[in-house]
Amino acid sequence: MTATAPTGATGRRTLRAGLIGLGAMGRNHARVLRELDGVQLVATVDPAGDRSGAARGVQVLHTVAELIALGIDYAVVACPTAHHEEVGLELAANGVCALIEKPLAHSVAAAERLVDAFEARGLVAGVGHIERFNPALQSLRARLETGELGEVFQVVTRRQGPFPHRIADVGVVKDLATHDIDLTAWVTGQEYASLAARTVSKSGRPHEDMVAVVGELSDGTVVSHLVNWLSPLKERFAAVTGSHGCFVADTLTADLTFYANGAVTTEWEALRAFRGVAEGDMVRYAIPKREPLLVEHERFRDAVEGKPGDIVTLRQGLRTVEVSAAVLESAQQRTTVAVPARIPDEPQPA
Ligand SMILES: NC(=O)c1ccc[n+]([C@@H]2O[C@H](COP(=O)([O-])OP(=O)(O)OC[C@H]3O[C@@H](n4cnc5c(N)ncnc54)[C@H](O)[C@@H]3O)[C@@H](O)[C@H]2O)c1
Repeated sequence: MTATAPTGATGRRTLRAGLIGLGAMGRNHARVLRELDGVQLVATVDPAGDRSGAARGVQVLHTVAELIALGIDYAVVACPTAHHEEVGLELAANGVCALIEKPLAHSVAAAERLVDAFEARGLVAGVGHIERFNPALQSLRARLETGELGEVFQVVTRRQGPFPHRIADVGVVKDLATHDIDLTAWVTGQEYASLAARTVSKSGRPHEDMVAVVGELSDGTVVSHLVNWLSPLKERFAAVTGSHGCFVADTLTADLTFYANGAVTTEWEALRAFRGVAEGDMVRYAIPKREPLLVEHERFRDAVEGKPGDIVTLRQGLRTVEVSAAVLESAQQRTTVAVPARIPDEPQPA
């Protein structure tokens, strides 16, 4: 389903991409896609048209079918979450690869249908869990992998902010907490094993707008997530505590700070018996800060070109939807729920 594309200065064929949804997130995708090396943004789709002028001269179509008819290699799906399934299935049925915004879908069943559709056709498909491309979290994950923190005890995240009036199709668990679920599993390399959650609905909408989650990962790491749309402040905080200290990542500023445990020597007899932790040095790392959305797009483009690309697979996106469903189930039943064991990950097609 690809029209002939010119070859760029690098000698590689220029990929033809489409963008579906020109809202708050689609505008950012449009900006990045217009300037992405090796990619031509062929057209966009939004039934409401281009209200913000984000397409900047690129054709704005009304239906996904019109976009597919132009011949594209892949599409970025940035329409509301409730429409990811129908749009994704149409792309897969027509042999078009897709980068689908997070969360993968509004329900576990819908996410499973998307996994099946893209895998059955051997198409490259990914989920836009953008936090994985945040420099602070990338550095944190690399440091955990090399054992800088020693044994990992706990992951705490807070994602609080004001109400986004445009999001009406899902609640804060699927819309925002999926960031925390994905990043926690990814930085630790662990699965969620069980969790308990409580939600609050204050905005008058059918969905929750505040959640508190306490959980356990498969290696016993304790996790907690506070996520809401009811705070007059914006914070994106992730702290990982282990036997050597604590890493704190701020994904708004892309800063990563390490608080080391202090080595305490004291002649004070009463304190000698205390085997807890003392404050040591604090280091804020100087890390290169590339725009996460640009890195996400570069990785996905590379994967579509058949290069080894570190993308978030649909199965990983499905897993995050499963955990978010367990959060809602726990809140509804007011019990601790076990998270079913993970479906094994499939290698992405070349
Ligand atoms: N990765 C992130 O950090 C991040 C941030 C914000 C939103 N998102 C995700 O992006 C998606 C869109 O969110 P948003 O905040 O941009 O929403 P939005 O409401 O601002 O924009 C959605 C746009 O999609 C259009 N649309 C509706 N139905 C469509 C269809 N069938 N085909 C094409 N376009 C359609 C709407 O007219 C609107 O312009 C959601 O899945 C959301 O979870 C991700």
